[in-house]
Amino acid sequence: MKVGFYDGRCVAIVGASRGIGQAVATRLSGEGAELILFARDRDGLLRAAETLPGKVHVFSVDVTSTEAASAMAEAVEQSLGRLDALIYSAGILPLAPVSGMLTEEFEQTMNVNFWGAVRAVQGLVPILGRGGMRSIVLLSSLSTHFPLPFFAAYCSSKMALRGFAASLRQELAPQGFHVGLVSPGPVDTAMVKGKLHTPLYRVPRWMPLLRPEDVSRAVDRVLRRRRAEAIVPGWLAPLAWLGLAQPSLVMGSYRFAVPGWEQAVREGMNRAIPGEVSPESRSFNQNHS
Ligand SMILES: NC(=O)c1ccc[n+]([C@@H]2O[C@H](COP(=O)([O-])OP(=O)(O)OC[C@H]3O[C@@H](n4cnc5c(N)ncnc54)[C@H](OP(=O)(O)O)[C@@H]3O)[C@@H](O)[C@H]2O)c1
Repeated sequence: MKVGFYDGRCVAIVGASRGIGQAVATRLSGEGAELILFARDRDGLLRAAETLPGKVHVFSVDVTSTEAASAMAEAVEQSLGRLDALIYSAGILPLAPVSGMLTEEFEQTMNVNFWGAVRAVQGLVPILGRGGMRSIVLLSSLSTHFPLPFFAAYCSSKMALRGFAASLRQELAPQGFHVGLVSPGPVDTAMVKGKLHTPLYRVPRWMPLLRPEDVSRAVDRVLRRRRAEAIVPGWLAPLAWLGLAQPSLVMGSYRFAVPGWEQAVREGMNRAIPGEVSPESRSFNQNHS
C-alpha cells in the first residue's frame, strides 16, 4: 500500500470549492490527508469532495461573518477532533480605479482576503496546537511584489496578509508552528476569468498563466519543507524579491514589457470589474464600460 506524506494527518482548506483550494485538496488527499473543506457554496464543496480519493468533510461558511472563527473551530472539533495544517485560499479580486471603487467593495475584499484569514487562524490555532504539524499556509499573490494599477483593494488585502503572517510566524515559533505564504502570478481560475489582458489587468508576455496544480505543488512544498514563502513560478523569485524591496524600479521595467501600458491605464480609469458583484458596482461597470 502506498504511504503518503499526509497519511494520518488532518488538514483544513478554506476556499476549497474551486480553483487553487480545490487543487490543493486533490493533491493532499492523494497523499493521504483527511480533509475538511470550507467555502460558502455547499454544492461546490460536495462536487469537489466527490473527486477526492481520501476521507473528506465539507462545511459551508462565509468567512466574512463574525461567527466564522467559532463555526470553523466547531466544525473541525466535531468532524476531525484534531488538526495538523490550515490552508487559507479564500479570495476575491475586484478591479477598478481607486476613485471608482465603492468603499463597500474595498471593505469586502479586505474582509474575505484578510479578515477571513485572521478569523480562520483565530478559530483554528488552538486546535492546531494539539496537532503534529502545526502548519499554517496563506495564499498571497505576486501582486504584492508587482503592484499593478487597479489592484489597490486586492494588493492592500494581500499586503496586510503578508504583515499578519510575518508577525504570526514570530509569535507562534516558540510553540513549534510553521507559517508560510504562497505567492503565485496569474492562475487560470474563475478569479481571473475575463479579467486578464484587459486594460485593468495587463501583464508582460513573459508572465505565464499558471494552472491551479502548479500552485498546489508549491503549497505542498511549503508545507513539507516548512518554508516561509514560495514564489510561483519559482524562476520569477529574484525579480519578485527585488520588486518587494524596490517596487518603482521593477515596475518601471514591467511597464516597459507591456506594449501600450500608458494607453491601457488611461482606458482602465473608466472601467471596473467587480469581484463580488454588488448592485452599485455593477452599475458603475455598466455606466463606464
Ligand atoms: N487566480 C489567480 O490568478 C491568483 C493569483 C495569485 C493568488 N491567488 C489567490 O489564491 C487564492 C485562491 O484563488 P483562486 O484563483 O482559486 O480563486 P477562485 O477560483 O475564485 O476560488 C476562490 C475560493 O474562495 C472562496 N470564497 C470566496 N469568498 C468567500 C467567502 N466570503 N467565504 C468563504 N469562502 C469564500 C470561494 O468559494 P465560494 O464562492 O463557494 O465561497 C472559492 O472556493 C485567493 O486567495 C487568491 O487571492 C489567485
